[in-house]
Amino acid sequence: MTTERTYDVVVWGATGFTGRLVMEYMHETYGVEGDVRWALGARNANKLAAVKKEVLGDDADKVPDIIADSNDEESLQALVTSTRSICTTVGPYAKYGTSLVEACANHGTHYCDLTGEVQWMHQMIERFHTTAESNGARIVFTCGFDSIPSDMGVFYVQSQMQARHGTYAPRVKYRVKRSDGGVSGGTVDSLMNMMEEARHDPKILDVIADPYALNPPNMPRGEDGPDQTSAEYDQDFGEWTAPFVMAGINTRVVRRSHSLMGYPWGEHFRYDEAMLMGDGPRGFAKASMVAGGTGLIMKASEFTPTRNLLGKMAPSPGEGPSRETIERGFFEIELFAAHPEDPEKNLVAVVTGDKDPGYGATSKMLAESAVCLAKDDLDSPTGLLTPSVAMGDKLIHRLSEHAGMTFSLKDL
Ligand SMILES: NC(=O)c1ccc[n+]([C@@H]2O[C@H](COP(=O)([O-])OP(=O)(O)OC[C@H]3O[C@@H](n4cnc5c(N)ncnc54)[C@H](OP(=O)(O)O)[C@@H]3O)[C@@H](O)[C@H]2O)c1
Repeated sequence: MTTERTYDVVVWGATGFTGRLVMEYMHETYGVEGDVRWALGARNANKLAAVKKEVLGDDADKVPDIIADSNDEESLQALVTSTRSICTTVGPYAKYGTSLVEACANHGTHYCDLTGEVQWMHQMIERFHTTAESNGARIVFTCGFDSIPSDMGVFYVQSQMQARHGTYAPRVKYRVKRSDGGVSGGTVDSLMNMMEEARHDPKILDVIADPYALNPPNMPRGEDGPDQTSAEYDQDFGEWTAPFVMAGINTRVVRRSHSLMGYPWGEHFRYDEAMLMGDGPRGFAKASMVAGGTGLIMKASEFTPTRNLLGKMAPSPGEGPSRETIERGFFEIELFAAHPEDPEKNLVAVVTGDKDPGYGATSKMLAESAVCLAKDDLDSPTGLLTPSVAMGDKLIHRLSEHAGMTFSLKDL
């Protein structure tokens, strides 16, 4: 990466719902004119000035602005050459994100985002991995609730398995135990955009359905099949489980991490995600209802009229959950790691976070990823990476220290 840059971090998309939360977190955590030199980016100078005043108050003038539009290459070049890392909430990424990834790859600028658009990531990996790798850029997708608890959670539980038992788990299960949160317009817009793209190019559906869609091309795959779609009983947890809506993103990211690391967990490593719904007939009924509802929404998003209806029922871009929903939200996840020979040595890791997962917690994860990429002494490879491959223990440390997350082992 080029050595001298004016800023450590630029938050781009600062006028949007999530960007505003990232701005607020950077201000609260890193202050102004401190050790982390940060700036705000947006496409509309007047809107940015108004949002800054609202969020930063008297400090508004102390945080510099960069005006850049995804359709204006010159402005993007100025943006990416001004900073060591950029975190972007300008989405849907498939619509607005490609030119920024290209500019970061070309100029050796580290990058993190909140995309969950598997088809777009797949395309970006094919197009820009080699350029980013040779120019020293670490480009990291999915630095929010999808997929940091999954990717860092697996990394954590496998490190613990290695430290305690000198081996790795051939099977890890991610189970959402409890969570509370809301939905923003930008996220709904991203899902609708993905399904709209699939209407024009049905091959996109194949990419989305491929469990190894993000593995590097021509590298070994594995034995995992399609994601869970119905109620299933989980012996290891003694509970019924329902499909987890983000499994289609997170599992691909974890499998890419394994591949980029050179398959340390073995060629038969298996990974899946689901939500815990309780035991007995009540657990079964709840799991079946959630599975049915999730299936219905996914089906409805495939067809234009029902997709439009869903879009109308959801918040518009720029809108999201209330402050109260964000503040009272939380999540608690358990990751079961099977010891290869001795069930007595199985481990369960617990990953928790305060604030609502999709926005309050996500904005903190994204900000810490950007600071980690800019400031920490990383010895990871470069290219289009995953959170654990790019940032490993350093990110776990930051998330635990500043962002209200915990990573621990449960006593079994
Ligand atoms: N993975 C997760 O856990 C997670 C969680 C939250 C959000 N997300 C994703 O994050 C993205 C943003 O969500 P959001 O709810 O914050 O959306 P949003 O409120 O609609 O914000 C989008 C931002 O992008 C800016 N923008 C739009 N077009 C642009 C362009 N051509 N050039 C530059 N900037 C442009 C908008 O600027 P204006 O203000 O000028 O319109 C706004 O600042 C979505 O893709 C969403 O799916 C993911």
